[in-house]
Amino acid sequence: MPSRARAVQFARFGEPTEVAEIVVEDVRDPGPGEVTIDIEAAAINPSHLLTLQGKYGIDFELPMVPGSEGAGTIAAIGPAVARYRLGDRVLVPAYAGSWRQRATVKAADILADFPRAADPVQCSMLLANPPTAYLMLTRYVDLKPGDWVIQNAANSAVGQYLIQLCRHYGWRTVNVVRRKGMEDFFARLGADAVVEDGPDLTDRVKTATGGAPVRLAIDAVAGAATARLAACVEKHGTVINYGMLSGEPCHMPPRETVFRNVSLRGFWLTMWLREYSTRHDREQVYALLRDLIVRGVLHADVEATYPISRAREALAHAARGGRAGKIVFAPQSEALP
Ligand SMILES: NC(=O)c1ccc[n+]([C@@H]2O[C@H](COP(=O)([O-])OP(=O)(O)OC[C@H]3O[C@@H](n4cnc5c(N)ncnc54)[C@H](OP(=O)(O)O)[C@@H]3O)[C@@H](O)[C@H]2O)c1
Repeated sequence: MPSRARAVQFARFGEPTEVAEIVVEDVRDPGPGEVTIDIEAAAINPSHLLTLQGKYGIDFELPMVPGSEGAGTIAAIGPAVARYRLGDRVLVPAYAGSWRQRATVKAADILADFPRAADPVQCSMLLANPPTAYLMLTRYVDLKPGDWVIQNAANSAVGQYLIQLCRHYGWRTVNVVRRKGMEDFFARLGADAVVEDGPDLTDRVKTATGGAPVRLAIDAVAGAATARLAACVEKHGTVINYGMLSGEPCHMPPRETVFRNVSLRGFWLTMWLREYSTRHDREQVYALLRDLIVRGVLHADVEATYPISRAREALAHAARGGRAGKIVFAPQSEALP
């Protein structure tokens, strides 16, 4: 019996809070090889806001229901699906559009399963940010135990996962933020050092690391922030840019590239998933990160959860700076319409 469920839909690009609509859609029953998932949690990420403003690196067809990641439980099972039982908790495939209450997907496209006792909100954030942190730490520079890594926007979810992964593997982090008063937050995470961004960043980083070389810099901000991070890495060091939170192009002066041989690389998870990972790579990386989430080694703070019907409020909240964590849709917190 097909069901009806709420979804956040966008029929045009623009300010997300202005163009988001709540719709009630028909959810088809699962066919052969398919399952229907009741989506329990789906985060709002900066990339979603950029996508809805029409500023992201992919063209999307409209109307669309956004949400590239989520977790949920199996609500219905089609013929020829042996792997799942009703109530099993799974990762929602990226194409499903997770800002909705229900989705019918191919069972074979589910990348990870979670224990029933696991926290659905933490599970829902497996797809994008943990592999981004993990791949940037492991695919560019051969870090040795005790090596220093610097990152900006360090209190972001990616930043939190990056600190937790560095602790797990024995690397040290110097964490750059744009506001004061974050010492307790970083102490709880087990970060090695926290510094405020600004023109004298290099000096503050030297003090924080005792002058030890910084091997890798990870930049989510771009603009002049890229050059400030570049000035902190060692000669021949690497800067990876993976975000554009400032909205500016990366500044990379010849002082760094020519006279110190610092390289600027870019990382985009979508490209890794589509172009330079095998199915085996993806399974390995997601199995490892899934275990770390289930064991509580990886965790991202959440400031608030919202039902689908309060999407505009949720989007406005997600767009605000100075948050203490992610904004996440909790689609099962309201009954199906
Ligand atoms: N390339 C990839 O494949 C990939 C994959 C995943 C994520 N990302 C990118 O990673 C970044 C972090 O994502 P997230 O989901 O972890 O973010 P998040 O948890 O939503 O946190 C947002 C962070 O951005 C900071 N911020 C916002 N505007 C800023 C600005 N103008 N200058 C400096 N900092 C600013 C915030 O600082 P305050 O707390 O001070 O407001 C906060 O730390 C985003 O740029 C996202 O697009 C890229």
